Amino acid sequence: MLTQVIVLGNEKGGSGKSTAAMHLIIALMKSGRKVGAIDLDLRQKSLTRYIENRMKFAEGASTRLDFPKVAKVKASALDSREASMLTETDHFQEALQSMEGCDFVVIDCPGANTHLSRLAHAHADKIVTPLNDSFVDFDLLARLDPTTGAVLGPSLYSELVWNARKIRAMSGVPGGIDWIVMRNRLSATRANNKRVMGERLEDLAGRIGFRMVRGFGDRVIYRELFPMGLTLLDLGGRDAPLRLSTMSHVTARIEIRSLVAALNLPQIKAADGAGEHTKGPDEAQKAA
Ligand SMILES: Nc1ncnc2c1ncn2[C@@H]1O[C@H](COP(=O)(O)OP(=O)(O)OP(=O)(O)O)[C@@H](O)[C@H]1O
Ligand SMILES: [Mg+2]
Repeated sequence: MLTQVIVLGNEKGGSGKSTAAMHLIIALMKSGRKVGAIDLDLRQKSLTRYIENRMKFAEGASTRLDFPKVAKVKASALDSREASMLTETDHFQEALQSMEGCDFVVIDCPGANTHLSRLAHAHADKIVTPLNDSFVDFDLLARLDPTTGAVLGPSLYSELVWNARKIRAMSGVPGGIDWIVMRNRLSATRANNKRVMGERLEDLAGRIGFRMVRGFGDRVIYRELFPMGLTLLDLGGRDAPLRLSTMSHVTARIEIRSLVAALNLPQIKAADGAGEHTKGPDEAQKAA
């Protein structure tokens, strides 16, 4: 069985990568999958902190909480850029290999173009890019003509994904990278901005090869759950540590489930060679 690598990426900070990563991890575990988690944001460590908060919360909770298998990647302290990149590549490979046996590995990337982030993108089977409903964030995907609003061409983050696709193709790993963009923090108001963003994204999707999926609404509950390490999927139900109180939280759970469904994740099949496909891109990257 091959481990599917799902990378949460966007060079734009604060777009919702860590929040979506944690919700995805818990959603996959709740559907009976074995899930690994790797946090590549070595400075902020939001996903790591989220999981640590969950551990602390679990100590005092009467119900059992699910936890992913966690692998840590260390930043290199070497001065030479070349040597530092090689060391980080080794650390990344070790982390991925330790995930053998997991159905999915969810990797949370920093909001920056780092060597580790590029590596993760080149190893991705799926890239999930949360995007705030703002043209400031859109600018990292594509440049727009300031007068007509027409899409002029790809921008920084799209180029990073393009390079990851090239590296993967050169490595001979079968299948391309499925790139999914999810709009995050969608507001019930600002209908005009929402519509125009939607149109520009639809236009861009065909040109640079991503799929749009329904994203998450702008809900304060996402910010409130972090200190307890909980997700919306842990709420509700008779034994839940916290109860869902309003309709909006129920809708949010539906949003998360539809994100998982839209990812079109493969059925789990028994096969040999777990983790084999994770070796390819590095060989290609070294050769490039
Ligand atoms: N759908 C949402 N509704 C409301 N708040 C949200 C939503 N998604 C994320 N947030 C909040 O937005 C902030 C940024 O989210 P998050 O840390 O997940 O983004 P990120 O892309 O991982 O950021 P960074 O690039 O800095 O790592 C956090 O305060 C988080 O709680
Ligand atoms: Mg983050």
